[in-house]
Amino acid sequence: MTLPASLTIGGRTFSPPILLAPMAGYSDYAFRSGLRGLGGVGLAYTEMLSPASLLQGKGQKRKTLLATDDADQPLGYQIYGTRAPDLCLAAQWLEAKGVPLVDINMGCPQRKISNHGAGAGLLRDPIEAIRIAGEVVRSVHIPVTVKLRLGWDLGSLVAPDMVPGLEAVGVAAITIHGRTRGQGYSGQADRAAMRRVVEAARRVPVIANGDVTSPAAARRLFVETGCAAIMVGRGALSNPWLMRDIARDLQGLPPAPAPTWAERMAYMQAHFERMVALYGPVGGTLLYRKWIPQYVRHTLRDRPRMVSWLQVTDPDEMRRLMAELAAEQSGH
Ligand SMILES: Cc1cc2nc3c(=O)[nH]c(=O)nc-3n(C[C@H](O)[C@H](O)[C@H](O)COP(=O)(O)O)c2cc1C
Repeated sequence: MTLPASLTIGGRTFSPPILLAPMAGYSDYAFRSGLRGLGGVGLAYTEMLSPASLLQGKGQKRKTLLATDDADQPLGYQIYGTRAPDLCLAAQWLEAKGVPLVDINMGCPQRKISNHGAGAGLLRDPIEAIRIAGEVVRSVHIPVTVKLRLGWDLGSLVAPDMVPGLEAVGVAAITIHGRTRGQGYSGQADRAAMRRVVEAARRVPVIANGDVTSPAAARRLFVETGCAAIMVGRGALSNPWLMRDIARDLQGLPPAPAPTWAERMAYMQAHFERMVALYGPVGGTLLYRKWIPQYVRHTLRDRPRMVSWLQVTDPDEMRRLMAELAAEQSGH
């Protein structure tokens, strides 16, 4: 089976057909820039943004949410909410800023979001969800995509049945995460169920998402779902080279050598400096702490040392600890 070389959404082509998932608290400018430098990102999304944070957000917070540059392209912006007028205003505001693509979140399982009808909560009322998507599509000229879970729970796998309606209102692409809201992140993403979503689509590309942690898993997702593209989330947090490796595999190239420890440490240190530049020395240091386990979980087995590392508040102390680990690893 020939795998796709690119993805076309609303007349625009993205290559390779590998998308970086929206991930709240993670997929910011500092993270996206590093990943793009390694390769393999055909299109990235921001984390989900509320219309209020865009339209009434405080200066600095909004600035960091929206931070990007020419190298951080193409970039889709994801919005979430329950009220069509708010979502339309947010989409129009983004369009006026020159954003190329807007995505509507129909999959967030967090109670504070989905229990109020947003994110995956929209899947409880598919007709209303489709109506809202249609209003957003009509409010802007840029393509509007949606990202769905399979349904609210296993008793209501509504995603395949929503596809014709979403196509009819003009949605330009559909991403399907192969789990229900009730499943959270448990078990395996259901590739057969994602295939039903792909098969229900007549006009728009379907992007499959869930559990891609290797080039082999990416290949399996393409083959078993027939999707037009894949989206990678958590796999890229702990292995920033993953999307590059998948891209090479899709192109039939031999695997690149695994990054050396020196390269890993340099990547980790550069990510920290980008976070300091984005959020300031203290804010950047506090926010960076969640990345430490992602990067050194398999290296730093000394638990007390990891715990003390996770409590660092001073940027120079963070730099010192990274340099110390780099020096230790270089001796191996
Ligand atoms: C920390 C975290 C934050 C997430 N935030 C969002 C979000 O803002 N919008 C969204 O549509 N999905 C969000 N997701 C879901 C991912 O985009 C993706 O659908 C999910 O993680 C499955 O893909 P994966 O197995 O490749 O991680 C988030 C997931 C994680 C782990």
